[in-house]
Amino acid sequence: MATSRRDTADSYTLRARREGYPARSVYKLEEIQRLFRIVRPGQKVLDVGAAPGSWTLYIHRELLKGKGKIVAVDLNPLNLSPVPETVDFFQGDAFSPEVRSLLTERGPYDAIVSDAAPGTSGNRTVDTSRSEALAEGVLGLSIEQLKTGGNLVIKIFQGGGQEALLRRMRLLFVRARTLKPAACRVDSFETYLIGIGFKGSGAERT
Ligand SMILES: C[S@@+](CC[C@H](N)C(=O)[O-])C[C@H]1O[C@@H](n2cnc3c(N)ncnc32)[C@H](O)[C@@H]1O
Repeated sequence: MATSRRDTADSYTLRARREGYPARSVYKLEEIQRLFRIVRPGQKVLDVGAAPGSWTLYIHRELLKGKGKIVAVDLNPLNLSPVPETVDFFQGDAFSPEVRSLLTERGPYDAIVSDAAPGTSGNRTVDTSRSEALAEGVLGLSIEQLKTGGNLVIKIFQGGGQEALLRRMRLLFVRARTLKPAACRVDSFETYLIGIGFKGSGAERT
């Protein structure tokens, strides 16, 4: 049977295994952090769509250096053993009223990062519109829960309303742009919206 490219462990997958991360996606956040300094030690970070937990672990180890707080949420459990002491994890839909109120109780946040992605159907139109809905949900949550001056990272599938979201983010943040990190798979249509320096929820109306 032929081996597809996805079956073959690439250099990012091998590096993730070596460094003890459950997924290669950690290197996307590493690049984003290198370019934009999203998180600093001692801060409070919300990680949306956190499972299996590479971003959460990287934020704990490398960005907070063990000092600060991470609130992580996902439909699925984290695959981290042990879960670091800086992490409060909630399993559930980040946008359900129950989970949202738990996230709100623990906010506001210095940074919100979202690698959340819908389960893919294979139909690009369906998948991009689900990704757009998730990204809009994260932006809505961020407008409520980000501290002034805070930073935001949101994954979105290209074609899923990213230009409209970026226009909104340009009003809400001092700087906003898109980035497709080198660690994204060549055949992936995901990209990341980055907002630096949240101006406050009133900024869209001015
Ligand atoms: C690509 S994975 C995240 C990988 C993670 N950043 C890491 O490094 O381990 C996308 C995640 O988004 C989660 N997700 C999708 N919709 C969600 C929702 N409404 N609420 C919470 N999590 C969600 C999925 O369950 C999935 O685990």
